[in-house]
Amino acid sequence: MNRLEGRAALVTGSTSGIGRGVAEAMAREGAIVVVTGLGPEQGAQVVDGIVAEGGIAHFVEADLSAGGTEVRRLAQEATALAGRPIDILVNNAAFLVPPHPMTESTEEQIDKVLEVNIKAPFLLTAALVPGMVEHGGGSVINIGSIGGVDGITFTSLYGASKAALHSLTRSWAAELAADGVRVNTVAPGPTITESNEDLRPLLEKLAQNNPDRHTGSVQDTAAAVIFLASNEASHIHGVLLPVDGGALAI
Ligand SMILES: NC(=O)c1ccc[n+]([C@@H]2O[C@H](COP(=O)([O-])OP(=O)(O)OC[C@H]3O[C@@H](n4cnc5c(N)ncnc54)[C@H](OP(=O)(O)O)[C@@H]3O)[C@@H](O)[C@H]2O)c1
Repeated sequence: MNRLEGRAALVTGSTSGIGRGVAEAMAREGAIVVVTGLGPEQGAQVVDGIVAEGGIAHFVEADLSAGGTEVRRLAQEATALAGRPIDILVNNAAFLVPPHPMTESTEEQIDKVLEVNIKAPFLLTAALVPGMVEHGGGSVINIGSIGGVDGITFTSLYGASKAALHSLTRSWAAELAADGVRVNTVAPGPTITESNEDLRPLLEKLAQNNPDRHTGSVQDTAAAVIFLASNEASHIHGVLLPVDGGALAI
C-alpha cells in the first residue's frame, strides 16, 4: 500500500529498535523518511536498507540531550533533506533509564530524562508545526508507554516522562486540531527489538501479565503508527492507542 505517498516523515530514534521499524514501514508506505539518532553508522545502515527496497531516506545525526539549538538544527536539516515540509513527526527517541529504586535516581539521570523524553519532543514539535500548518496540516505521533499509565516498580522516572508525553499529546491535540495538525500517542507494552534481545527474559515475564500473554513486535507498533499517520485516521485526535496485548485493559 502507499498510504503515505508524497509525504515527508521525521522519526526520532530511528537508528534502532521501534523507531527503525517505524521508519522502514513508513518508507514502504511511500513516505520520504528522515532517520535520526546518535549513531551515523547505524543511521547509514537504516538508510541503505530503505533505499535498497526502493524507498527514499536520509539521515541527520543529532543528540536530543544537547538542547534547543541542536533540536532546531535537526528540524531545519530534516526539512531541507526531505525537500518539503515535514508532514509526519514521530517522537520516538527516549533515554531508557535502567530500572532502579527511586532512592538511587541521580540528578544527572533526572535531567537527561527530562531533556530527551520531554524537552526535545516539545521543541521539535514546536519547530515543525508551523510548516505543517502552512502546508495544510500534519500528524504528530508520540511514542509513549504503558509505563506512563501504570505504576511500575523501579521505573518511576521513565514512567513520569512518558506520562508527561501522554499529557502533551492531549494538550497539543486540543490546541492544533483546528489548524489541521493531529496529535496522538502510541503506547507499546513490552516489545522485543533487535537492540533489546538481552532483555527478552524480562520482557517475556512482564508480558505474562498481558491478557494475550505475548510480547509485542516492532511491526505491531509500526502498524499502529502508520494507521494514525494515514488519512484513515483523519478524524482521530488526542488518543492513546495501546499496543500492549491488552495490558491496559485490565
Ligand atoms: N521496547 C519496549 O519494550 C518499549 C515499551 C514501551 C515503550 N517503548 C518506547 O519505544 C521507543 C523506542 O524504544 P526502543 O525499545 O526501540 O529503544 P531503542 O532501541 O534503545 O531506541 C531508542 C532510540 O532513541 C535514540 N536516542 C536515545 N537517546 C538519544 C539522544 N540523546 N539523542 C538522539 N537519539 C537518542 C537511540 O539512538 P541511538 O541508537 O543512535 O543511540 C535509539 O535510536 C521509546 O520511546 C520507548 O520508551 C519501548
